[in-house]
Amino acid sequence: MRIDIISIFPDFFEPLKLSLIGKAQEKNLVEINIHDLRDFTHDKHKTVDDAPYGGGPGMVMSPTPWGDAIDSILNTTEQATLIIPTPSGEAFIQKTANQLTTEEHLIFACGRYEGIDARVAQHYINSEKIKEVKEISLGNYVLNGGEVASIAIIEAVTRLIPGVLGNEESAIDDSFAPGEMEDRTEGPIFTRPPVWRDLEVPEILLSGDHKKIADWRKSQQSSATPKSS
Ligand code: ADE
Repeated sequence: MRIDIISIFPDFFEPLKLSLIGKAQEKNLVEINIHDLRDFTHDKHKTVDDAPYGGGPGMVMSPTPWGDAIDSILNTTEQATLIIPTPSGEAFIQKTANQLTTEEHLIFACGRYEGIDARVAQHYINSEKIKEVKEISLGNYVLNGGEVASIAIIEAVTRLIPGVLGNEESAIDDSFAPGEMEDRTEGPIFTRPPVWRDLEVPEILLSGDHKKIADWRKSQQSSATPKSS
């Protein structure tokens, strides 16, 4: 899979060099390219934003550098999926990750300020070089930009690529995995020592009875909706 990320904060993506995603790149399972949107501006101040038409607070990201940046990536590849993280997008769930993991090429457009001029999404919906434009929300809250959302999406998507997780970290039994776990999350887990600060590991887990353990684990799963306080 090839992933291109466009942002005015390329340093935000340093963590992608770490851990399983870093290793996945070393193994050539994933190629990640980071692009600085300001490299696609044409003025001395490298301006990427402007006041909103119709008035109102905040600034809007100009379509011109976005178009130039996205075109420069599209010139080199086949059809890509363009992902625009935004609180007004469709909710990101495991099913979205399962679908995106089968794509060859993802482009992440990380907006800041009030967001990206809406014509960027409109334009690329009609581009033959783009398979789909997906506006995706991480949840019903507002982040400072698309960077954190992109990293979350990239982590959820790339861990599903065969070979990215080691055997011991297989995604098959994970919460939300297709099949029995689709709408469920895993229950509590324990390791040694058997007693810690007067708290005991549930006895059944020490019993060695695999059938009973499997039944108990199933009984501890929850339905997937996150609990709110
Ligand atoms: N950008 C700002 N807030 C966001 C959210 N909740 N999800 C995705 N992108 C965002």
